[in-house]
Amino acid sequence: MRNLLKVFMYCILLAIPFLTLACTQYDDYPEDLEQLSEDERLVIRFSHVVGEDTPKGMAARKFAELIKERSNGRIEVQVFSNGTLYKDVEELNALLNGNIQMIAPAISKLTDLVPELSVYDLPYAFDSMEEVHEFTESKAGNQLKNLLKQHNLIVLGLWDSGFKQISNDTRPIEHYKDLKGIRMRIMQSDILAEQYRTVDALPRKIDFNTVFQSLQKGDVEGQENTLTNITSKNLYSLQKYLTISDHGYLGYFLLFNYDFWKKLSTEDQELIKETLEEVQEWQWQIAKELNDQKLQEIEDCRCIQIHYLSEEEKKDWEKRFSPVYDYYKQHFGNYYIQNLPKYKDVK
Ligand code: LMR
Repeated sequence: MRNLLKVFMYCILLAIPFLTLACTQYDDYPEDLEQLSEDERLVIRFSHVVGEDTPKGMAARKFAELIKERSNGRIEVQVFSNGTLYKDVEELNALLNGNIQMIAPAISKLTDLVPELSVYDLPYAFDSMEEVHEFTESKAGNQLKNLLKQHNLIVLGLWDSGFKQISNDTRPIEHYKDLKGIRMRIMQSDILAEQYRTVDALPRKIDFNTVFQSLQKGDVEGQENTLTNITSKNLYSLQKYLTISDHGYLGYFLLFNYDFWKKLSTEDQELIKETLEEVQEWQWQIAKELNDQKLQEIEDCRCIQIHYLSEEEKKDWEKRFSPVYDYYKQHFGNYYIQNLPKYKDVK
């Protein structure tokens, strides 16, 4: 019995340094709040419709990682990609109803709510991504974003997808006249419909998640999108011709449900805003790199016939699309058009 007691005391003595070390280290650990319940944590559900390896998909993941790290797990951004939680269109309603807290839809898809936003959809409205960014940060751009507040939405950033290109299965599109009679998938925007009507093509508004099937079934023969979307959804495998036209901008507003946003503490709002600003810079770069990389991959695969519009041809197309600008002006006035960077020196 005495021997047993000795062994026990001996073990305790041996364990003391380890226990002390463990306790000291525990004190040094940063607080990990991941184990908190959903009530104690701040959960932001973020739904989007594109793949993980697109500029939007990658930025959404980066944002979630940074927020988790910077809040020690107290704020959790749950990202649902590929329309797994809500599909195109549905996601906006889910945000408005407060079922999710954050989305990043194409600006075109907000034009039913705020039609003035379709200035972003005008053909050749912007010559470069820098012009888009400049416009978005300008007085006119901020006025546009603020219009969404009336719908209980707040814009906390802009992410690029890139410039759109045109693919189809019928004939090479070298001149805008070649678009005549072709059924084209577009996003939900009246200005985009007008753009194709102007050149006698037949626009069809179709959800992003069903574009592949619509092309496959022959409901539409062509579509316009950025190269990252065209490749990530494998759309080009169904198309014979691609025109690098850079004719329109596709980008996303980072939207929060405004009621949800207003209830956050100032510290949380600051953390989210700062992190989004940082991710935005990174996202713009990634979007550019990915689109360049995808063009290279498409060129290398030699699986689709590519036509590149020259700068002169682009000017011709832009002129041909001027009725679309008239349509916008008739409906929503000239103010936002006048403030596009390309007209700034002309005013
Ligand atoms: C589309 O519908 O083509 C795009 O808006 C999809 C996306 O979110 O990039």
